[in-house]
Amino acid sequence: MPILVRPTTPFPGQKPGTSGLRKKVAVFQQPNYLENFVQSIFDSLEGFQGQTLVLGGDGRFFNREAIDVILRMAAANGFGRVLVGRQGILSTPAASCVIRKHRAFGGIVLSASHNPGGPHEDFGIKYNIGAGGPAPEKVTEAIYACSQAVGEYRIFDGGAVDIDRLGIQHLGEMAVEVVDPVADYVELMERLFDFSAIRRLFASGFRMRYDAMHAVTGPYALAILEGCLGAPAGTVVNGTPLPDFGGGHPDPNLVHAHDLVAAMSAPDAPDFGAASDGDGDRNMVLGRNFYVTPSDSLAVLAANARLAPGYTGGLAGIARSMPTSQAADRVAAALGIRCYETPTGWKFFGNLLDAGLATFCGEESFGTGSDHVREKDGLWAVLLWLNLLAVRRQSMETIVRDHWAVHGRNFYSRHDYEGIGTAEADGLMDHLRGSLADLAGRRFGAYIVRLADDFAYTDPVDGSVSMRQGIRVVFSDGSRIVYRLSGTGTEGATLRVYIERFEPDPGKHDQDTQAALADLIRLADQIAGITLRTGRSAPTVIT
Ligand code: G1P
Ligand code: ZN
Repeated sequence: MPILVRPTTPFPGQKPGTSGLRKKVAVFQQPNYLENFVQSIFDSLEGFQGQTLVLGGDGRFFNREAIDVILRMAAANGFGRVLVGRQGILSTPAASCVIRKHRAFGGIVLSASHNPGGPHEDFGIKYNIGAGGPAPEKVTEAIYACSQAVGEYRIFDGGAVDIDRLGIQHLGEMAVEVVDPVADYVELMERLFDFSAIRRLFASGFRMRYDAMHAVTGPYALAILEGCLGAPAGTVVNGTPLPDFGGGHPDPNLVHAHDLVAAMSAPDAPDFGAASDGDGDRNMVLGRNFYVTPSDSLAVLAANARLAPGYTGGLAGIARSMPTSQAADRVAAALGIRCYETPTGWKFFGNLLDAGLATFCGEESFGTGSDHVREKDGLWAVLLWLNLLAVRRQSMETIVRDHWAVHGRNFYSRHDYEGIGTAEADGLMDHLRGSLADLAGRRFGAYIVRLADDFAYTDPVDGSVSMRQGIRVVFSDGSRIVYRLSGTGTEGATLRVYIERFEPDPGKHDQDTQAALADLIRLADQIAGITLRTGRSAPTVIT
């Protein structure tokens, strides 16, 4: 078999971040860069000889080239079979679904999520374990260690695979099975949700706009919404995945999904709007002229979960990332179940889901999901919302306002300061860490600091400890300011500041979010010295 063993030398910095290794395309295009990292993934694993690997990506620029290299390296390293999505496409949640359903050893997903794509933009690669979720830290650390010592890589020379053609082909002894990227996922969604009720909803004239942002969920949304559920043609917009996402920033938030936001506030707005990100794991949902934060969406979905056939038995628990608002905690308390607080990043939910401790998980960064796969899942959240809307026959705004009336409202916003210098960012965080002891017990106007710490997490299942996961300043009324640096950026540093205030009084639920948080926003600057240290007087993105 024509297997080449090529000498190579390590690249510095092949350290997976919050979600895999992300770099500019030009970095990945350097000779051996991708090969080194893929060999390091394989070198860090044991026992995959003859096993199945799942492979696919969000279709961004360099996806096809990377797939060709990874197929050849998988063959040369001894995998028995690779399941690859047709045209190299697999959304992140669909990859997780395929790994689980076909009991694969693991999977490689090519994506830089919501980061822009194209020759001058970002590319990324992440490894998922056999349970279907992102590799936990001990695995990513092992991959990084291998990448710093790699001296050769193995690649199959010759042969060709046509990834546009469904069916089985071979690279040497390894089978390459090109699969329909949508089929397994659609079958799973049909089992979880009441498709007949949603079909009746659409048949009654309910209107929806789903913006796939020229990214990977287009084919999934078309098949499910316009196919299975009978939504009118044109419900899905920007539904063809493009290598550069049409020049856009495929991040479903109020800033980047502005077309959808405009459509949802027009006089003839549809009843329900939704968008997903580059690789399909994020979602934003909107009612007519009404925005629901991801934190509130998690809480409302959890409170109403029993309305969907997949969750009639109720939830075992809820898990949220630390910076996500505490709205879900209130629902958990009302349901008499536990709410787990984890560090940022979906990988921390894996153990809780595997152990059956949590059923729903969510992050403030437009990520929601359940134990049906081991990734957050944009379309899943949209379908669960549709299921609720179909059963309750109320508007999204009514459902959310009712929720606040029962549980209270957690006003919540995230302020991002993008592209600041790494020295300034590190300096700011070091200063905050240094002032934690002074902060405890201090009074700032009406706010008294109840707790100030650098969040550390002990995984309740395997006991692993993750330190330095973000600075929390918690006040005596439960309000919070959280500071952390992004682990997914590819340029400079991004400071994220998360601000939250609880309002029990329904008479005060109508305030504008930024106005409701104004005092805490000022305090966030005062405590961390953001303007002083970064020279920025305002955040780049507010969500
Ligand atoms: C961001 C989000 C985080 C999410 C991750 C991957 O990470 O904040 O919640 O899990 O993207 O989608 P960050 O850039 O903050 O490290
Ligand atoms: Zn994503």
